[in-house]
Amino acid sequence: MKEIARGAEAVLYENGESIVKIRPRKTYRILEIDQELRKRRTKKEASLLEKLKSEGIRAPTLIETDNSERIEMQNLGGKQVKLVLDKQPELAKQIGQELAKFHEADIIHSDLTTSNMILKDKEVYFIDFGLSFHSARIEDKAVDIHLFLQALESRHHKVKEVAYNHFLEGYKEYREFKNVLERLIAVEKRGRYRGK
Ligand SMILES: Nc1ncnc2c1ncn2[C@@H]1O[C@H](COP(=O)(O)OP(=O)(O)OP(=O)(O)O)[C@@H](O)[C@H]1O
Ligand SMILES: [Mg+2]
Repeated sequence: MKEIARGAEAVLYENGESIVKIRPRKTYRILEIDQELRKRRTKKEASLLEKLKSEGIRAPTLIETDNSERIEMQNLGGKQVKLVLDKQPELAKQIGQELAKFHEADIIHSDLTTSNMILKDKEVYFIDFGLSFHSARIEDKAVDIHLFLQALESRHHKVKEVAYNHFLEGYKEYREFKNVLERLIAVEKRGRYRGK
């Protein structure tokens, strides 16, 4: 298996048509806590992959999991949106449409950076669901968008405005989008008070 990525939590391997994602032990964490966290995130991610499919939302197909540290899923191939958004900011409309579907299903992604989005055959797929959770709260949905805005700010500064306008065009498809955007204003203000 060929290693393709090593993040804060996981090591990813490519094995032909599949991707193997392993959350190895973190020795700086107390053993029991570490096991619990890795297990929780692995199970969360695996169950999300299945749920998304059943909701008709684009995601890699789950192939197998040990429910503790390993997930095998479909290799989407494609490119990280991070690498293409500056040249194709109009892709953000699809990001908005995809997030609209998540929020319609009361799923909060919680890690909406452009390295957690893959462009395959002109379609944007979200990946990396270890922090995702179920919630109907408008607040949680607004925070999801806040995280996406932060990602635009830090990674795609030059196209931030254009990309956000495209995003809104897509996100408008969510029936509660007005409430979420209204709440987003409060979330953004709070972010600033925190002096970041
Ligand atoms: N199913 C997949 N198909 C194609 N590429 C993938 C797939 N899953 C992951 N990748 C690639 O591997 C990279 C890292 O994967 P991922 O974001 O899931 O891990 P991570 O950020 O280390 O995880 P975590 O945030 O859960 O610790 C992605 O940015 C993407 O480029
Ligand atoms: Mg990631």
